Amino acid sequence: MSPDPSTPAERPWLDADRPVEERVDALLAVMSLAEKVGQLHQTANIDPAADAELIRNGAISSSLYASGATGGNVKDEGLLSSAIDSAQAIAVEESRLGIPLLFGRDVIHGHRTVFPIPLGLASGWDESLVERACEVAADEAHLEGVAWTFAPMVDISEEPRWGRVAESFGEQPVLSGRLGAAAVRGFQGEPVGEKGRLAACAKHFVGYGLAAGGRDYDTVSVGENTLRNLHLRPFKDAVDAGVLTVMASFNDVDGVPMHSNRRLLREVLKDEWGFDGVVVGDWGGVGQLMNHGVAADLREAAIYGIEAGIDLEMVSGAYAAHLADLVESGEVDLALVDDSVRRVLRLKFRLGLFERPYTGTPQRSNAPTEETRALAREAAHGSMVLLSNNGVLPLPADPGTLLLTGPFVQEGEALLGTWVLDGKGDDVVSPEAAFRERLGDKLLVQDNRFSERGVQLVRQADVTVAVVGEHPWRSGEANSVARIGLPTGQLEVLHELAGIDKPLVVVVYTGRPLELGPVLDLADAVILAWHPGVEAGNALADVVFGDVTPFGRLPMTFPRTTGHIPTSTHQRPTSRTLTPEQDKTEGRYLDALVLPRLPFGHGLSYTTFSYGEMALSATELSRAGGSLEVSVEVTNTGERAGREVVQLYFRDPVAQVTRPNIELLDWARLDLEPGQSGTARFTVTADQLGYFGRDLTRRVDTGEVVLMVGPDASRGERVSITVTD
Ligand code: NOJ
Repeated sequence: MSPDPSTPAERPWLDADRPVEERVDALLAVMSLAEKVGQLHQTANIDPAADAELIRNGAISSSLYASGATGGNVKDEGLLSSAIDSAQAIAVEESRLGIPLLFGRDVIHGHRTVFPIPLGLASGWDESLVERACEVAADEAHLEGVAWTFAPMVDISEEPRWGRVAESFGEQPVLSGRLGAAAVRGFQGEPVGEKGRLAACAKHFVGYGLAAGGRDYDTVSVGENTLRNLHLRPFKDAVDAGVLTVMASFNDVDGVPMHSNRRLLREVLKDEWGFDGVVVGDWGGVGQLMNHGVAADLREAAIYGIEAGIDLEMVSGAYAAHLADLVESGEVDLALVDDSVRRVLRLKFRLGLFERPYTGTPQRSNAPTEETRALAREAAHGSMVLLSNNGVLPLPADPGTLLLTGPFVQEGEALLGTWVLDGKGDDVVSPEAAFRERLGDKLLVQDNRFSERGVQLVRQADVTVAVVGEHPWRSGEANSVARIGLPTGQLEVLHELAGIDKPLVVVVYTGRPLELGPVLDLADAVILAWHPGVEAGNALADVVFGDVTPFGRLPMTFPRTTGHIPTSTHQRPTSRTLTPEQDKTEGRYLDALVLPRLPFGHGLSYTTFSYGEMALSATELSRAGGSLEVSVEVTNTGERAGREVVQLYFRDPVAQVTRPNIELLDWARLDLEPGQSGTARFTVTADQLGYFGRDLTRRVDTGEVVLMVGPDASRGERVSITVTD
């Protein structure tokens, strides 16, 4: 160790004009082994009083949540900053090296201004909107001293039983990857380290969405081919977008838990992709290697964690307890510890924490403003997917007497969705409030619960809007379901409501794809609204009364029933692939069709669109960097302005390994007035058509590729192109 760095002159790492790597080197050179290990330990709910000694000794690097964040003792007006700053002051002023603490928090789909759940945000297919929403969330969270969020979640999600699909951007790697990258840009800003921004975290690396049976945390049996061609892709996009951190997932992959998965974390993510940020373990994940039955004790778990490349250990304390000893005994190479410390310090320098360690007294409140509400409303519009409509929607401004019924009509908090730590139910505009504003005493409300009385009210009303679905407690982490039908009793009541021959609109709040066939059969129109956030009621009324023409599209396939799972765009050709026609005549299930109930990309509008023929700038492209342009003219053939999400898919009919029957390549959003035509233009590069082959290297084959442009994954015009040498 060099001389005791007690004076600023001996602390060259404080010089912000020096390059980050130089600052990291300078600091690393003077750290003791204990201080290094301290930088790899993350605690929860740091307490400036109880943890003072540990902070002073440099034994804590980071805290998720913060004292008062969950306890409420210092959380006044939503401001956590005093607890955070008190802990920070000990780290900066009283520890030997003055390394600031890093405060993390789950800011998932908004902070105070809560936006739709990520699966809802994904339904808007709008990168700019996701970026702006994450920018607002970062700004609000930063005001409270948060420097790091554990988002975006870019787990490819094809399993509706798994509650965490709500936190995802759906099943397609291109959609998830691009929206994930947009979230990274929104949270982090460019350049990173600006005030009002956070470090983002791409999670959960990797394969978590394949949990067996949809049971959270369960076993994942997947080969590297599927990982490479599907699950790793959005993470690569997040890394390419500059994400500063990545979180390991709770699951194993083919028998190797991710918290000990050297192959995927160290060899693929860090070495092959060149990721130089921090890999954080998930909550207790290193310690849970014992639960997995691969580590005998916490000491062994620490060895596996650090060897695999988990840099920062979340709460299990395995590193804090054993790493120094493991290095001293020669069981763990100091170089591994140094590499992880280097990454953590790099993150802290990149975030500007050494220059701006304190939150200070916030200059303003972070409660939703008119501006942030407007964005939340726009986001909720995009999240709504019109699943069916026999013409009953939109309702006229004066629909006569309207009955609003069902368990969510007066809800606030439940419409915020899962993983909301800081949003408030009181900030939410409920469906009742929004409909009341429009309809006054022409609105009948059958409050929170359905009942026979509700059925009687249907008779008195000219139209009924029934708001059904899942409470957020039924989705999110650890909340899997064995059956994806509506919660108990709701369908029965809907049958009763539909039995009275009056127009019935059904609105479904949910965090996952549900079995909606029976609802689609009985309702005049069905709107899928996910969990929409603070502007829930306003956005719903805007769509129901036609101020906004819906344009959301499904980011996940909707199966027919639970036994139909898995069904998604990931299906690949088999030895006996069925065409849709054969599905009807020959079939595979004896008791159901194989085709999903609603295809990926599905979503209706209040207007109609017609597609012209696909035009291609060429029908051949060279695999050596070639590209071609695809365009299609789309016309609004209806009587309302509307937005069409034009989707470009492809299929590689002959490849080294089985390739999906259909895969999203790109999309374009066209806003068209009645009668107006617009052109969706796409550039297709040879690289986009590549895949990982038998030897797990990426390749672009020569030969035929089928392109399809259409309004969803099930239909559209197909044209073949040829990839040449
Ligand atoms: C566990 C979850 O899996 C992860 O997504 C989350 O960020 C951490 N807990 C921290 O709250």
